[in-house]
Amino acid sequence: MDLGLAGKVAIVAASSKGLGFACAASLAREGASVVMCSRNAAAITAAAEAVGREAVAAENGGSAFGMVADVTDAGDVQRLVDETLRRHGRIDILICNAGGPPAGIFETLDDQAFADALNLNLMSTLRLCRAVVPQMRAQGGGSIVNITSISVKQPIDGLILSNTARAGVIGLAKSMANELGKYNIRVNNVGPGPTRTERILSLARQRAAMLGITEDEAISRDWQGIPLGRLGEPEEFANVVTFLASPAASYVTGATIQVDGGMYKGIM
Ligand SMILES: NC(=O)c1ccc[n+]([C@@H]2O[C@H](COP(=O)([O-])OP(=O)(O)OC[C@H]3O[C@@H](n4cnc5c(N)ncnc54)[C@H](OP(=O)(O)O)[C@@H]3O)[C@@H](O)[C@H]2O)c1
Repeated sequence: MDLGLAGKVAIVAASSKGLGFACAASLAREGASVVMCSRNAAAITAAAEAVGREAVAAENGGSAFGMVADVTDAGDVQRLVDETLRRHGRIDILICNAGGPPAGIFETLDDQAFADALNLNLMSTLRLCRAVVPQMRAQGGGSIVNITSISVKQPIDGLILSNTARAGVIGLAKSMANELGKYNIRVNNVGPGPTRTERILSLARQRAAMLGITEDEAISRDWQGIPLGRLGEPEEFANVVTFLASPAASYVTGATIQVDGGMYKGIM
């Protein structure tokens, strides 16, 4: 299937590694011009070079550019959008992403911890969307995909900050899909289950230390009970994001799709 991504311009936030990186690489291989960001200059430069090499090898006309921007900083978000417009003159796709908040439980986390998590995962999404929607509207459409978590369907024990902030993203996205459909702007969410990235490996290390088990045991607990019986790979997640972002998904909006190997056990 031709996804129709050649010549499209995409912003992929928080993309020096992990899920964001895999999404940037996938979009660039399909022919999109991708602007990537993260907080670390060396990391995002190296990541954009790697994505750029993959785009050249794919010979679909894709490219990548990386810049430093912290998605929790409104000024940085605006710079990211301004730089994309300066380079490419349009924005067809926005992939909202950020790091994950720390682990913790209700009785030990204070107001500041919740405020920080909301700023990291909810407010960053809101600000990124607010900065690109006028451009998408003026262009006659666009596609926004939010990277959330399987926790929006099934909260994860010990990650109450993430469980709380990401539910807000779904409410925001569903309302935006309703309000912006008339401008041909689509808004969807993709929720990863346990996927092999630095984040999942570092959470496993923390759990291993807490529970006195090995890192491998902690990782295998992540996928126990998952019908496909393994962690997901970032590329498997990126394939779904790339489809939703693309014109091939032109009648899909307001959807939340899990990429979790069957971990979520509800019917819908
Ligand atoms: N992997 C999973 O199994 C899984 C499951 C459910 C949900 N998630 C969620 O999906 C998202 C991505 O996860 P991941 O596993 O890919 O994480 P990761 O491997 O830790 O990568 C996070 C990326 O985000 C960047 N980043 C972090 N904070 C940022 C900020 N404030 N501004 C700009 N860039 C920032 C990091 O680069 P810098 O450090 O250079 O900024 C890095 O490129 C997270 O929110 C995570 O909680 C992941």
